[in-house]
This record gives sequence, structure tokens and C-alpha cells, in this order.
Amino acid sequence: MTKALDEVGIGGIGASRKRVEDSRFIRGQGRYTDDIVLPGMLHMEILRSPMAHARIKSIDASKAWEIPGVRLVLTGEMAATRNLAWMPTLSYDTQAVLATDKVRFQGQEVACVVADDPYIAKDACDAIDVEYEPLPVVVNPEQALAEDAPVIRDDKAGQDGNVVYHWEVGDKAGTDRAFANADRISKLRLHYPRSHPSPIECCASVADYDRATQKLTVYMTTQAPHIVRAAVAMIAELPEHMIRIVSPDIGGGFGNKVPVYPGYVCSILCSILLERPVKWIEDKTGNLISTGFARDMYLDSELALREDGKILGVRIHADADHGAFFADAQPSKFKIGLLHSAFACYDIPAAHLTARGVYTNKAPGGVAYRCSFRVTEAMFFQERMVHQAAKDLGIDPAEFRRRNFVRADQFPYRTPFGFLVDSGQPEKCLDVGLEAIGYENFLKQKEEARKRGRLLGIGISTMTEPLGAGNSREYDILGIKMFDSAELRVHLTGKALLRVGTKSQGQGHETTWAQIVSHELGIPAEDVTVEEGDTDTAPFGMGTYASRSTPVGGAAISMVSRKIRAKARKLAAHLLEVSEEDVEWELGRFYVRGVPDRGVTIQECAMAAYSNMPDGMEPGLENHAYYDPPNLTWPFAVYIATVEVDPESGVWDVLNLVAVDDCGVRINPMIVEGQIMGGLTEAYAMSNMQFITFDEEGNCVGSNYMDYLLPTAWETPGFELHSEVVTPSPHHPIGAKGIGECAAVGGPAAFVNAVMDALDGTGVRNIDMPLLPDRVWQALRTGQDVS
Ligand code: CDP
Repeated sequence: MTKALDEVGIGGIGASRKRVEDSRFIRGQGRYTDDIVLPGMLHMEILRSPMAHARIKSIDASKAWEIPGVRLVLTGEMAATRNLAWMPTLSYDTQAVLATDKVRFQGQEVACVVADDPYIAKDACDAIDVEYEPLPVVVNPEQALAEDAPVIRDDKAGQDGNVVYHWEVGDKAGTDRAFANADRISKLRLHYPRSHPSPIECCASVADYDRATQKLTVYMTTQAPHIVRAAVAMIAELPEHMIRIVSPDIGGGFGNKVPVYPGYVCSILCSILLERPVKWIEDKTGNLISTGFARDMYLDSELALREDGKILGVRIHADADHGAFFADAQPSKFKIGLLHSAFACYDIPAAHLTARGVYTNKAPGGVAYRCSFRVTEAMFFQERMVHQAAKDLGIDPAEFRRRNFVRADQFPYRTPFGFLVDSGQPEKCLDVGLEAIGYENFLKQKEEARKRGRLLGIGISTMTEPLGAGNSREYDILGIKMFDSAELRVHLTGKALLRVGTKSQGQGHETTWAQIVSHELGIPAEDVTVEEGDTDTAPFGMGTYASRSTPVGGAAISMVSRKIRAKARKLAAHLLEVSEEDVEWELGRFYVRGVPDRGVTIQECAMAAYSNMPDGMEPGLENHAYYDPPNLTWPFAVYIATVEVDPESGVWDVLNLVAVDDCGVRINPMIVEGQIMGGLTEAYAMSNMQFITFDEEGNCVGSNYMDYLLPTAWETPGFELHSEVVTPSPHHPIGAKGIGECAAVGGPAAFVNAVMDALDGTGVRNIDMPLLPDRVWQALRTGQDVS
């Protein structure tokens, strides 16, 4: 008698299956954009502006044209003849492709050269003579909003200042009442500094316009190939099937590869003009100074508190520095992303948020770096504020959180900002975390150490965040709803090909997507091949960012598998010669109700779909599903760090970091752990060492890896991960919630709170990230906040 399969044994949900993609990655056999070589291919380099704000008086490219091997020098003026000097952004703004009137940030694209090899192209860029007339430079919101500030976007009709938008959400009157009734008000002003996702592989494209077929193929490092195809179709007024966007292997994205950058557009235009394939490979500094920065937000927040520790209301004002173009991608309804998801794990009666976006002379900023549209800023501010409020009230920060958490029986919980948090067990997660770190014991150690002049600190960060944008009622990019898709073909041998609208940049989709099919159909994961990233073959999807792949794409995979199963059931009934109602399912096989020995496997059904289908049934076993999620999924996380600060130098070391992540059902526990470890490493880097900023002239400081530090195994502390709390999402077909970004979102506050805790009693309320030793030392020496 055939038995139902052991799900983990066939690589289904819960199996820590080794990543199948790694066999090619670790052998150097990945196929990245730079590996693509086409016959007759030329190479493109970009000339970037050395100045942050300057009028372009003239561009003389005559010397560049004289260099042997140069095929094209493209300037903004030439691009304008094709109506391509400017392009629309994913946030309904416009962005210069190649500057025509003036440059607005250091590193902006001014011209590009196409040549026989990249070195000739680079030399030719250096030979272009650009005459600039410097203009006053604006590098932060305060300067941008000053009365005498130069208008950066004077290209836009009606733009008379540097404000991009004003946005507001929540209940102002109710929040004012809560503050009027408060026993105490706790305030904090914070800056979440600019950071750069800095993927190992920079942006790249190979554009190939075929004059004979008039088809445009672009290989490029994009996390969202279908969005790019839609944008190109709209700009170029070409039908979608004449455009093929292929996203091959990607060496990290983290949100950096969502926007459409000028380099991509230039390579396309050059290929069309030259009728030859054109390759553009960005260099590291080009990537660091000109592509999607994240964060850069100033935040004033206030909590209205009752003496017993109850939070009565929250007021938030955010100033977001978007740089020269509002070019990040986010749902069109939410100007400042999902910043208003702040405080969603706390039961707070009233909340109000105002936000203002500003233009500055910096590269476009605000991309969701491992983050669902500003939730990183939201959770950082939330947890810094909660820590400070607890201190202000003299209540233990763990206890303060406990008093304000949404209780497990309150879910689904409607936040004052309107989100519906699907599920969670905040208190239970906190208990696990406190137990693991040895909370009470550490507090005693801290007191003892103090007596000997040692500064120990413990910092907690707890949060739930909205992952899986999102339902079509509220979420769209450029008007396209944020559903996702899957197409499944089960061949007659029972092997399967799965194509999904998401696009992995290293997250392991080829492994985990097969596991979902395995879970639904009982086909061993190793028999399922996963493909993503080619718009000619993948179904239309919105791509991978904001940890939306599992909540949306993963759900689509379940749904398409279930459609396949429904057809297989009919085939099983036919093969077993019983009615469909008498057919039962167990993993991998159907059997006759009450007669478990009489059954057929899913593979036998697959064979029948092509060789022995019942009369009237369409042959084949394939289908597709588009999934419009009813809600976002809400993972919950607790991160607790302990640190020791050296009072002589300001250097701080992490003693321990405990992470408790409840992301519902884990498809592949090993991959989930990898995601958390990676996120915590980034969180540690942001809080401890990563610094990329701009001087008064708008020069980017930190535009190379000598200055912008990536943590290696040497600096990165160890992390202790806990997975015992599992709250399945009630609306996701397999109960999974997103996880990719949680630790990067929630982690920074744990480290910063720990350092601030170590500084208890010094009068210092805040040190802005990164908490470099000199900043901590300065705070210790002066007893003043450091911003
Ligand atoms: O959108 P992105 O892939 O970056 O994020 P995600 O949906 O959170 O998934 C990251 C990786 O973790 C994928 O390989 C997922 O399949 C896996 N994952 C999992 O195994 N179980 C979960 N509950 C969530 C994600």
C-alpha cells in the first residue's frame, strides 16, 4: 500500500533544504549581466558631474569623438531630440536621464560614450569638456526649506520651493486630546542617516535592439522586470511583446535595483541609435554616489503618557530628504511609504503623522533598502521612542512594552493609522527573548559593573511590520496593482516547471518556491524547476522587494498548485473509476474514500493528463494564478542586544544578541535563519560603522569601501536565533509571513538602545547613527546629545 509522503523528506515545507542555486553560485557559474556577451556588442561609460549644483554652460565632446574606437557620444541635448533627456520616475516625478540645463547632485549623469571597449569609453568620457557655473548647494531639509534657498527643481512648472509633498494621516483632534490629558509627554528628535544598500554587483545592462524584428531585449539587474517593461513600453510607446526584459542572476539588490536608472535608459537609447548591443557596467563609486540611497529622515516624535506607563497617543512629524529627484518606488497612495505602520504592535488609542518631502542637491534617496517602504525608519523611531519614554517614566523598558503591547486576543487589530494587523503573540515573543538573554541577571551585572566603572547596556527592540504589499484596494506602483503571479506546468513525467513574477537577488527562491509546490502536490522539490525574471516567459508580476515575495508570490504558487490539484483529482477519479466526490487526497496521491489501498499518485495523474484523460477534458496539466492578497502579513520580532561601552574611547562591543522572529510558517528554516543573520549584520553595520554623508558643497563622503564600511565576519558579532513562536498568518494560504527584511528593520534600535542604556545617568538622550566611537566618546565627555 502506498503511504502519504513525508513532506520534509521530499523537500516540502519545513525542510531545511540546501539552496539549489548555490551549486552554480559557489562554483563561479552564475550568469550575471556582465557575463552576457553578444555578437557586435559595444560598451558604454557614463560621465558624471563633479559638482552638486551647477548650470551647464557648454559641453564640448569634440576630443572624445576623435578617439579611435568611439562610436557615440550622447549628451542630454541629443537625448532630448528623442524626448529622452528626462524620464518619469516610479513616484510620479521626473528625473534627468542626461543633464541639459543644470546638474543637481554630485555624480549626476551628464553624458555617455559608447566605444569598442570600456576603457576607450572611459578615456573618452574624460576627454569631454563640460563648463559648469556653480550654484548654491543645499544638502539637508533645513537648508532646503530656508527662505533664500535656491529652487533645485526649477525645471518643474509651478515649483517655487524645494518641497516635494506634504502628507498627513491619523486623527489630529483625537491625538491633541490625548496629549491634553497626558500626565507626561516624552519627546525625541532623531535622524536616520542616509545609508546605501551597496549590493556586491553594481547596476548593469545589456541593451540589444534588433532592427530586423524591431524587438528590444534588455538584460539588466532589476528586481522588478515587469515594472521596467511597463515603464519602457509607456516611454517608448512600444507594445510590451516587443520588449523583453531579462533579469539574470543578481548579486544582491536590497532595494537598490528597483528604480529605473539613467544608465539603463542610456544603454537602450544607444543600442537603438547604433543598432548594436550596448553593455553598461556601473562601477562601485558610480553605484554608491548616484543610485538609490535609503533613509535620510529627520523625525520629531512625541508620546503622550500616563504615569502608570500607558501610552495615550503618538505624534510624529517627518522630514524626508529625497535628493534631487523623487525617484524611489512606493505605493502611490502613500507619499512617505508605510511610515505610519509605526507603533502597530502597541495598543495606542490615538495617533497623528505629518510628513514633508524635500528636494536637496543629493542623489535621489528614499529607496526601500531591505524595507517595506519606510518601515525601517518607522520601527527605528518607534523603538527609540519607546525606550526613551520608559526611561523618562522610570519604568523598565521590557515592562513598559508589555503594558502597551496589543494582546494576542486583540488580533486582528486595527491601528489608529488604519492598518489591520493580522495576528501575533508579542508578549510570548518578548518572554522568550528575555529568558534567552538572561534579562534579570544582566540588569544585576550591569549594576555591579557600574561600581567598577564599566558601562554595560541592554537594548530591546520589538516590532511588527507590514510585509506583502499589497492588496489592490490600496497598493499600486504607477497605477499597476501589487498582485503577483505563478504559472505551473506539470509535465507528463510528473516533473514540473514553475514560473513566478518575483525575482530573487540571492534570497533562495529557486529552492523555496519548489518547496511550496511540493507541499501542495507532493511532487518532490527536486523535480520542480523554478524560473523567474524573464518577461517573455514569466507571468506578469511586480517583482521582489519589501519582503513581498512569500506573502504574495508564494501565495500565488500555492493557489496555482491547488488549481493543478483540482484537475488532477478529476483525472484520479477517471483512473480509479469512481466519482470525484469519492476521491480523497493525501500528500502526493489520491485514493478511494474508505479504500486507502486503491490510489494513484500525482505523477500518474500527470501522465493521464497527456495520455488518458476522460472524454471532454482538455489535455495537459498546467495553469496560472494571479494572487491579490487580502491583507499584508505581519511578522513579529524581538531583538535584544547587550553591549559594553569603553568609557575611554567610546568603542562599543556587542556581548550578545538574541533574536526571536515569528514569521508564521517557515518554508525553509535554514533560509529563514540566513535571512535573519544577514539582516542583523546589516543592522549592526548601520548602527555601528556605516557612514555615507555629504559635505557643505554636496560632495559625497564615503563613496568607496575605504570609508563606507561593509562588515566582514571579523567585525560581525554572533547572533542567537529563536524560532519557537509561530503564529501563522490567518489569510495566507500556507500561513507564511515575510521575513527577509525584519532583522534589518528591527535590529538597529536594539543596538542603539543598548548603547543608550549603557549611558544611563549621563544625561544623554540620543546619539544619531552610526554610533561611531568618536560620537559616543563626545556624548560621554559632554553629557550632550550628538546629532
Ligand atoms: O521578498 P523576499 O524574497 O526578499 O523576502 P521573503 O518573502 O521574506 O523571503 C525571503 C526568503 O525566505 C525566501 O527564500 C522565502 O521563501 C524564505 N521564507 C521562508 O522560508 N519562510 C517564510 N515564512 C518566509 C520566507
